[in-house]
Amino acid sequence: MEKELTIDVKNILGLQLPTDPRWVNLAEMQLDEILTDHAYCEQKAATTCITLITKNSEKEFLVQELSPIVTEEWGHFRMVLAELNKRELKLGRQRKDVYVNKLLQFQKKDGSPDERFLDQMLIMALIEARSCERFKRLSEGLDDAYMRTFYRKFMESEAGHYTLFINLAEYYLEKKIVRKRWAEWLKYEKELMKSEEVRGDRIH
Ligand SMILES: [Fe+2]
Ligand SMILES: [Fe+2]
Repeated sequence: MEKELTIDVKNILGLQLPTDPRWVNLAEMQLDEILTDHAYCEQKAATTCITLITKNSEKEFLVQELSPIVTEEWGHFRMVLAELNKRELKLGRQRKDVYVNKLLQFQKKDGSPDERFLDQMLIMALIEARSCERFKRLSEGLDDAYMRTFYRKFMESEAGHYTLFINLAEYYLEKKIVRKRWAEWLKYEKELMKSEEVRGDRIH
């Protein structure tokens, strides 16, 4: 299992730019901020899955597959919240999500319903993939062994979610079209990552 995951994560799954190695050191110094930002990432993942279910209710397979993910993402939110509580920290306000907002700009606004659906699946896949990569960094680079284990659990889940969203896209659309658009997303994300300053108070 562990070996498989390593390969999976290594490919993640085509991410074109690895996270700047300085990020984990910065994050370590601001772990309180990371925890709050992470909690909201999980909340948004759960909320978005609910929205995807309601907006694609005719897609039975999608409804079937995403329903348990809502529970899982909300479970993640609760795990992060418990960690905040343990540290006597408050959840606090949601941070501005520059990464996701910039990704949203790349979605085809006036595309066909299929094109819009494809972008919705791929943006989710991308966020899961990058989150997975960041959790991997934390699970390997933090000094605190407890926190390394804590993030490893998230890394494993998000790797599975990444795959699920790609699979959903390929279930409903032609694989060739999915792969082509995925390559465009990866390229866009690489440029986005390059243009962003490295900051340790955000997951992305
Ligand atoms: Fe999650
Ligand atoms: Fe996820």
